[in-house]
Amino acid sequence: MYKIFKAKVIDNLPLNKKNYLLTIEPLDPISEPSPGQFYMVGTGNSFDPLLKRPFSYFRKTAQAIQFLYTVKGKGTAQMKALKPGDGMQVIGPLGTGYPKPPKGYIPLLIAGGIGIASLFSLAECFTKKPSLIYGSRCKDDLLILNELEKLGSELITCTDDCSFGREGMVTDVLTNFLDSPSSKGTSYMIYACGPKPMLAAISQIALDKHIKGYVSLEENMACGFGACLGCSVKTGKGYKRVCKEGPVFPIEDIVW
Ligand SMILES: Cc1cc2nc3c(=O)[nH]c(=O)nc-3n(C[C@H](O)[C@H](O)[C@H](O)COP(=O)(O)OP(=O)(O)OC[C@H]3O[C@@H](n4cnc5c(N)ncnc54)[C@H](O)[C@@H]3O)c2cc1C
Ligand code: FES
Repeated sequence: MYKIFKAKVIDNLPLNKKNYLLTIEPLDPISEPSPGQFYMVGTGNSFDPLLKRPFSYFRKTAQAIQFLYTVKGKGTAQMKALKPGDGMQVIGPLGTGYPKPPKGYIPLLIAGGIGIASLFSLAECFTKKPSLIYGSRCKDDLLILNELEKLGSELITCTDDCSFGREGMVTDVLTNFLDSPSSKGTSYMIYACGPKPMLAAISQIALDKHIKGYVSLEENMACGFGACLGCSVKTGKGYKRVCKEGPVFPIEDIVW
């Protein structure tokens, strides 16, 4: 069950010029989030911007919640200015997270850019750590690599400009991975988060190869808890709210 709660900033660590790791301490008891869920974060103490912004939780510990974020516009520019001790208001956990894979299916995680924020907690929750394909435009945009290495997943990185890891986009790497002899006979369950064109391309690969899976969508959100319909997307089962029925949807449901 979600709730509105006050929190205190513990740390707001710059990872590079545009990406930060924000650690907050909830000042009220909150319910445990599950991987794929998100929070609506009040980015500052003024009413500008008026609306909170949606962020996947990157990691949750007994005392703190962490968000990995990219500075994009007004709200995230304010977030970047948050200092230890600052207060903020947060709503969550919100939305529907990633379902567990059915028995016999092997999870395969695919992150594009900041989509890693949503998938990290999922990777963490498996006892046998899943393979993770993680791509970005350039080396600098591949975040928290040391944390990912500590996790113990098979980590396959790639960059569009070939500055790190394998050359090319995650979709190229995914196709090679699925076509490799070691993948033959394995029933994968895909979990993907990243830019919409990447998710659409992954969905096509999954449908062509009869692989099941889930995508986590990002849409502009006003309320974050199902009231305004502003985040609706077209699915094969009618329009669905990304904040309420999503952000995680079965791959085959989305009409791209
Ligand atoms: C469920 C969910 C989880 C998310 N998790 C993360 C996360 O973990 N880390 C992270 O960095 N970002 C995440 N996002 C995206 C994040 O919410 C936006 O980047 C943020 O709201 C931008 O706010 P802003 O005020 O800085 O930008 P604005 O000034 O509002 O907009 C700047 C630009 O960003 C685009 N934008 C705004 N909101 C979104 C959005 N919700 N999705 C995609 N593009 C948007 C706008 O169209 C515009 O081009 C998530 C979005 C959703 C829906
Ligand atoms: S943001 Fe209001 S219904 Fe989703």
